[in-house]
Amino acid sequence: MACRTAILISGSGTNLQAFIDAVAAGDLDLELSIVFSNRPDAYGLERAARAGIPTACIEHGQFEDRESFDRAVAAELDAVQPELIVLAGFMRILSPWFVEHFEGRILNIHPALLPKYPGLNTHQRALDAGDEWHGSTVHFVTEELDGGPRILAGRLRVIPGESADELQTRVQAVEHQIYPEAAGLVGSGRAVFRDGQALLDGEPTTEPVVRSFA
Ligand code: GAR
Repeated sequence: MACRTAILISGSGTNLQAFIDAVAAGDLDLELSIVFSNRPDAYGLERAARAGIPTACIEHGQFEDRESFDRAVAAELDAVQPELIVLAGFMRILSPWFVEHFEGRILNIHPALLPKYPGLNTHQRALDAGDEWHGSTVHFVTEELDGGPRILAGRLRVIPGESADELQTRVQAVEHQIYPEAAGLVGSGRAVFRDGQALLDGEPTTEPVVRSFA
């Protein structure tokens, strides 16, 4: 049985689209059970509706604090009993309660070669540092922002003189490859979260698998 998956977005949803396309092509054995957004104008909601995936949206502004919002989100998600939660450009910091509620089942993609550049403006920071390589990393979510155990990273060489926008576009193309692949590893049970660590094929991993792209 395909792994029941919830995808959380806040914006355009190009990563969501990569999941939709990979599932439709038969390359990814997940059941996309729900797409959730905290923004009603997120274009990803249209992508989901077009693909026939149920959607839900709750705006965070109406909640007193982070955890009350997270509890409302979790109630929406729990209705479909997700086995995997995929954060795909969901621009909210999760409360410890939410992380614990779905412990070991939440994946995030962060546009940097973690542990470098947690947080925002990652592309500009990589350019400013003169890095030779930049990319994106898929990891299990823990309470530490962008700090959970890493599963898979995709890297590419920085082109001298390119802008942060150009670099972002190239990194996003990498994300569309590595995120469905990493989610497939988790969905099939090859990658698991245990005792704060990632295991791949039963072996604890301290470094992610790294794919290089042109
Ligand atoms: C992605 O590039 C993802 O790495 C980034 O948001 C973008 C969403 O794009 N996530 C973060 O910065 C999380 N800290 P999308 O809506 O087109 O998939």
